[in-house]
Amino acid sequence: MNASSAHARTTAAGSPAWLRGAVGYEVYVKSFSDTSGDGIGDIAGVTSRLDYVKWLGIDVVWLTPFFVSPGLDHGYDIASYCEIDPQHGDLDAVDALIARAHQLGIRVVFDLVANHTSVAHRWFETALADPLSPERDYYLFRDPSPDGGPPNNWLSHFGGPAWTLDESSGQYWCHLFLPEQPDLNWRNPAVRAEFDAILRFWFERGVDGFRVDVAHALTKHPQLPDNPQIREIAPDAGPMSAFASFDHVHDLDQDSNAEIFERWHDIAASYGACLIAESGVSDPARLARYVAPGKLDLAFALKPARMTWQPAELLTEMLALAEAEPDRLSWVTSNHDQDRVVSRFGDGPQGRQRALAVSTLMFSLGGVPFLYQGEELGLSNGQVDPDDRQDPIATRNGIATGRDLARTPMPWNPDINNGFSIGQPWLRSAQRPQGLTVAGQHENPRTPLHRYRRLISLRRHYPELWQAPHSIVSSGRDDVAVVQRGRTLTVANLSPEPFAINLGDRRWRVVFASQGADGDAARGVVNIAAETSAVLVLDE
Ligand code: GLC
Repeated sequence: MNASSAHARTTAAGSPAWLRGAVGYEVYVKSFSDTSGDGIGDIAGVTSRLDYVKWLGIDVVWLTPFFVSPGLDHGYDIASYCEIDPQHGDLDAVDALIARAHQLGIRVVFDLVANHTSVAHRWFETALADPLSPERDYYLFRDPSPDGGPPNNWLSHFGGPAWTLDESSGQYWCHLFLPEQPDLNWRNPAVRAEFDAILRFWFERGVDGFRVDVAHALTKHPQLPDNPQIREIAPDAGPMSAFASFDHVHDLDQDSNAEIFERWHDIAASYGACLIAESGVSDPARLARYVAPGKLDLAFALKPARMTWQPAELLTEMLALAEAEPDRLSWVTSNHDQDRVVSRFGDGPQGRQRALAVSTLMFSLGGVPFLYQGEELGLSNGQVDPDDRQDPIATRNGIATGRDLARTPMPWNPDINNGFSIGQPWLRSAQRPQGLTVAGQHENPRTPLHRYRRLISLRRHYPELWQAPHSIVSSGRDDVAVVQRGRTLTVANLSPEPFAINLGDRRWRVVFASQGADGDAARGVVNIAAETSAVLVLDE
């Protein structure tokens, strides 16, 4: 691919042309591939695996943060946005990664953590040291409430109040995540200007876009009022459940976020780059304020990455979103923040089969589906001893569950540490069996790896799957979805029994089945097996 000429082209909707129909892959850098032997994944490791990513058929790779960071939230607490954390490499390594990816025709998306910095960022250090400094207003410092407690009732996603006292000034700072992740004041033009420069720095180096971390949280209500509480918080509630006990009308999803997206769009578009929101917003009307021409290009549809096996709810959610935003969603069943899809869907062969059935539908819904590293192997959660937990949600709240199980090292082969590193991995976990490694599946066409690779290739072979206008055909059941696009028909039978579909007199070919054989010709009434999706193409 000639990256620079592709850069000049954007679609009518203002998004880069290369993004349409693409398939993405999330790399959790810390756990992907370690070349230095310190047990921590690095940039050179990602570069060394790009041939595999290419072989899989991936168009866009999103890398989780690898910038200078104390690492309290594993890189999502950034101390310097344009410097590489030495444990992951250096700028030369990043340049080499981008160059190799572009050589292979792969686009590279980084993670923009703009809601908060680390307390170790120079801006915050200055803000604390000198309350009269301009940097003080980069953050949300406020006086205590009249009773001396936090300024309002906001909670942190990660447990406890969203406020920490700065004892020397007597003011609190706001943090929707860890106390060590102070929220930025996005109403301050200086903050906006700082991030314009950060975006330009990376776009100048050839980065093709950003995933925008917690995009829905950037601006807060100017007066920071209390959020209405919508239910009691049980004494044993975990942090996420406590957080969900409030209606987040004042800290999340403010209309003013759109101003920032528009500003970033203009910068990104001038480089032919893309912006993808982690938005936490699933109401279609609200989502439209994030993704639209002139704003962000895509938003992750995150609910399917959180749900357990509830086919009707899953399909209702997905089809409503697809109707509202046919081209602007990034479909995911998994990411680094949630249990792996196979585990949520019942584990073992059944969980695997269900996961692929849902992904098959996602690949027919337009937008840009993203796989999470290891999803293509049908991995279930890793096994981590409670004493080895690393996720602050778990360690700081004394709870067993956390995000570590989705973050265990990528299993490349059956060697020591599954070929991830010759050193002790930063996150200790049980070795994966050979059958769940890349090497163990590579030579066997019947493995998940080959099924996912084939699914990915369908988009290239049958561009109608993402290009042609879609229509949702009534199946008469809420756990079965039928989507027609041009000459393609995708039947997602998530029900526990076979689903009979009448294809009429014309001849179709099953070009992909999430289980069973592909390639069969079909006409008349055809049975799609339970918990199976099939993609058919008119064969005449
Ligand atoms: C996003 C990231 C998550 C991180 C949080 C705070 O949700 O995906 O890993 O902890 O933001 O930055």
